[in-house]
Amino acid sequence: MGASIRRGLALLRFTPESLPKFVASNVRCTSCHQNDGTKATSAPLTGAHARFPKYMPRSGKVISLADRVNYCVTRSLSGVALPADSREMNDILAYLAFISRDVPVGRKTAAVDGLLPMKDTLVGDTLRGRTLFTATCVICHQADGSGKSPIPALWGPRSYSIGASMARQERAASFISHNMPQSAPGSLTPQNAFDLAAYINSHSRPDSPGKEHDWSAGGAPRDVPYATTGHSAFNPPPHLLPRPTTHKTDGDR
Ligand code: HEC
Ligand code: HEC
Repeated sequence: MGASIRRGLALLRFTPESLPKFVASNVRCTSCHQNDGTKATSAPLTGAHARFPKYMPRSGKVISLADRVNYCVTRSLSGVALPADSREMNDILAYLAFISRDVPVGRKTAAVDGLLPMKDTLVGDTLRGRTLFTATCVICHQADGSGKSPIPALWGPRSYSIGASMARQERAASFISHNMPQSAPGSLTPQNAFDLAAYINSHSRPDSPGKEHDWSAGGAPRDVPYATTGHSAFNPPPHLLPRPTTHKTDGDR
């Protein structure tokens, strides 16, 4: 069990290096789920094992924790879903169960799961965002947003896909406002964070096939950047890019 938990943690930290057949992006699980998934302001995974199976409005059904991990693999990492019975998936689940120990099933551990909500009256401005990005973020994430491993890409072919929560302005603003710049988290105003989120999400990124079926019963949040039932795309980027190519070969599953 200990070996499986440790392998799971290694997969969260070194995702593209460890899973080249499944992930070709320059983003790892801990790029967003910081401090090995335990940081309260960056979508904590602590207790996740006790929160699933869970109804997910985006998919309109009850999903398992393995399904939820694969949503992040296919959308946040622009990758290929891990087989539910693979050793890699079992190791990730073992680690998530480990950081969920003593969390009772069905009891809320925090007011919200995921990223903390921001004031939804704020709207980002891409021009102000660009100025702030140049002054504060380029030093680590590069002017073309491509990052430099282990610093993740914020847009382009090796970043998160259009179907990721981070591609929504308010979700990205929450992450940025609480966690970035990495060297001085909390130094930006909420408006700064929306401006930066608007700038980052105005760039092209990998497509997420099937995204139009999200929220099929309606009720998509305002800032979803693609059209779904009863919702028109919010500030969509100019182009969507092909999915990054993984090293999957014929005969591999
Ligand atoms: C680009 C950012 C990003 C990356 C990379 C990412 N995630 Fe996530 N993940 C999120 C966000 C954001 C949420 C919460 C959704 C929200 O708040 O709307 C989430 C939610 C989850 C949840 C559900 C937590 C709960 O209790 O509801 C799990 C489990 C999860 N991620 C696992 C993973 C794993 C494992 C990886 C790597 C294989 C990964 N994520 C990579 C952004 C990311
Ligand atoms: C000192 C280097 C540094 C600076 C400066 C910095 N970041 Fe980051 N950023 C990181 C690292 C490293 C991560 C991955 C998190 C981790 O490993 O803990 C990250 C992760 C992110 C992510 C989530 C992962 C992804 O690919 O989407 C976003 C969004 C982000 N940064 C935006 C910004 C913005 C906006 C700024 C400027 C306000 C900024 N960062 C400044 C180092 C930096």
